[in-house]
Amino acid sequence: MADDLTLTRLNRIIQGDCMEELAALSDESIDLTLFSPPYDGIRDYKKNWSFDIVELGDQLYRVTKDGGVVVVIIGDGTRQFAKSLTSFRLAVSWVDEIGWKLFECVIYHRDGNPGAWWNQRFRVDHEYVLIFFKGERPKTFQKDHLMVPSKHAGKIYSGTDRLTNGGFKRITPKAVNPLKCRGTVWRYATSNTEGNRLKLQHPATFPDKLAEDIILCFSQPGDIVLDPMCGSGTTCVMARNHQRHFIGIEISPEYCEIAGKRLAMEHQPAEQQTLFYGI
Ligand SMILES: C[S@@+](CC[C@H](N)C(=O)[O-])C[C@H]1O[C@@H](n2cnc3c(N)ncnc32)[C@H](O)[C@@H]1O
Repeated sequence: MADDLTLTRLNRIIQGDCMEELAALSDESIDLTLFSPPYDGIRDYKKNWSFDIVELGDQLYRVTKDGGVVVVIIGDGTRQFAKSLTSFRLAVSWVDEIGWKLFECVIYHRDGNPGAWWNQRFRVDHEYVLIFFKGERPKTFQKDHLMVPSKHAGKIYSGTDRLTNGGFKRITPKAVNPLKCRGTVWRYATSNTEGNRLKLQHPATFPDKLAEDIILCFSQPGDIVLDPMCGSGTTCVMARNHQRHFIGIEISPEYCEIAGKRLAMEHQPAEQQTLFYGI
């Protein structure tokens, strides 16, 4: 268990700058961090924040336990037809300069949001879920809740497997499992359709179900889940509702108030349905 510096901050929303507040947390005390930073001026917040994403990755590396995981939900803005590459820069600098390892880059396909839609561009309807881990491997990985029905359930699979040298190998016939693991494109309805008016007072939230899926996958009951830019408190509410400890940090007093109210009122796991492709 973490020592006092982190323990005294458990299960609280802390109003402040995450760089200062993170510096006050103990080394190797956090099991899972899940957050979405403001990026490329895409949303109009109460203030224009600035922070160094590499310094943030460095602090998170220090406070994360061996085998701990950090998940960043992020996308790229567009200026004069060119993508900013903010997400790519973050991933490369965190791995090359800090030592994080990239477990996966999942595509979060947003449903129900028209997004940026101009005549000369595609309609942007995705963000990235960058999943980093520290050490040899993630210490927790549970995917029971991420299983989806297999399209060919009940059939007998009796084809051939392709070998690395290009040849074919006949496989022993076997029944197709009724369930298979979700792939690397995760589709969710946006927060707009959750019907949570309190949460909607914040301009840029991620879906409860997305936070719930990540928390159940990469942490266990009793673990400490951190969101250093917690906005309306989505990560904290989902962590608490699944018997994890949480630490939320948020610079805006107004958003801290929303997070506090959500924690007082929302005690159910996410009910929202997740929609998937490729099943
Ligand atoms: C994309 S929002 C997070 C929304 C959150 N995931 C949710 O579902 O409600 C990013 C948040 O980061 C906060 N923020 C920006 N700079 C910060 C800093 N240096 N320290 C703490 N919070 C910061 C903003 O006020 C904003 O609420």
